Amino acid sequence: MITLEAADTRRVEALMRHAIMLAGNGPERGVNPQVGCVITDASGTVIAEGWHRGAGTPHAEVDALSKLTAEQTRGATAIVTLEPCNHTGRTGPCSQALIAAGIARVVYAVDDPGVESGGGAETLRAAGVEVEGGVLAEDAAEALGDWLVTARLGRPLVTVKWAQSIDGRIAAEDGTSRWITGEVARTDVHVRRAVADAIAVGMGTVLADDPALTARTPTGELHEWQPVPVVFGHRELPQDAALTRHPNDVIALTGDDLAADLRLLRERGIRTLFVEGGPTLASSLVAAGLVDEYLVYLAPSVIGGPRTAIGDAGVRSIADAHRLEITDLQRLGDDILLVLRPASRKGDD
Ligand SMILES: NC(=O)c1ccc[n+]([C@@H]2O[C@H](COP(=O)([O-])OP(=O)(O)OC[C@H]3O[C@@H](n4cnc5c(N)ncnc54)[C@H](OP(=O)(O)O)[C@@H]3O)[C@@H](O)[C@H]2O)c1
Repeated sequence: MITLEAADTRRVEALMRHAIMLAGNGPERGVNPQVGCVITDASGTVIAEGWHRGAGTPHAEVDALSKLTAEQTRGATAIVTLEPCNHTGRTGPCSQALIAAGIARVVYAVDDPGVESGGGAETLRAAGVEVEGGVLAEDAAEALGDWLVTARLGRPLVTVKWAQSIDGRIAAEDGTSRWITGEVARTDVHVRRAVADAIAVGMGTVLADDPALTARTPTGELHEWQPVPVVFGHRELPQDAALTRHPNDVIALTGDDLAADLRLLRERGIRTLFVEGGPTLASSLVAAGLVDEYLVYLAPSVIGGPRTAIGDAGVRSIADAHRLEITDLQRLGDDILLVLRPASRKGDD
């Protein structure tokens, strides 16, 4: 014989699994969380489902509530994969929406680690709502993916990209590096620039290559979305640099404390940083353990010489190597793209 409490736990977990499945309807890429929600009436029957469809759209709870009348929501239970948010972003705070709707009980999976958005559970409790967190948290965290990484770390998701010859060189001895890879690979880079919040290089790359850091189509037109250009370094940006003509203002950071600089970018609303700098900046980020994703474009050429993709990565012995796992591998024209992530991080930590 099972107790009433055990029966409730089983029922709640089954509903949470359903909410996790609904979360999967949300956008797959990017740093928007996939969140799902089900609302049940007092007898435990599901009366509404909701999920988050991407930036600026209603959160899962609000999506589910919108399908019900005030009479239906009063005394109901909401089961949601992420703690209801507590802040007014592009949409209102979900904790307030649940309270206003008269929801009696909220069960959620993962705590919201955001400084501004967290604390929804406390707000709900203070308003007399019965709240339970941590139900199937590990399963739900998987769906939250990169959003959870950036929210927990308080910095943007950092992708470091470079193009190299098969012997790991990113430029020839004289510093020339255009174009190591072919047109298909370069087009791929521009598509990725067009979905990044910001794009970063070190001053060495600015002075060597004078990059525009815009996202362009193969025919040279600007993509609709342009990432914010970020330059790390102490030296002055040359007055005639192509970057001065970028549609967005350049953010200049010294790079003395990379972790602090990244937090600053997050505070300025940047959640994804695409780093296209040279080996000095890339090596510093790798050594500091601040790289969440690597994009390596591999060209079928041998360059040789001193200009390696990564210099000092803080590895003294092979046991200290930064271990990665390949998450994607594509053939792009004559080149190959490898997408890699730190082996210990499976998207939920
Ligand atoms: N194949 C490719 O994918 C690719 C991509 C980019 C560049 N490149 C090539 O790379 C070469 C330039 O290399 P690079 O290493 O000089 O470029 P870089 O890494 O882009 O720039 C290095 C500069 O970044 C600044 N910086 C600020 N904070 C830093 C930190 N914490 N760690 C490291 N650097 C920091 C420093 O500037 P200050 O001295 O002003 O402080 C430093 O000298 C060029 O030949 C270029 O063509 C190749």
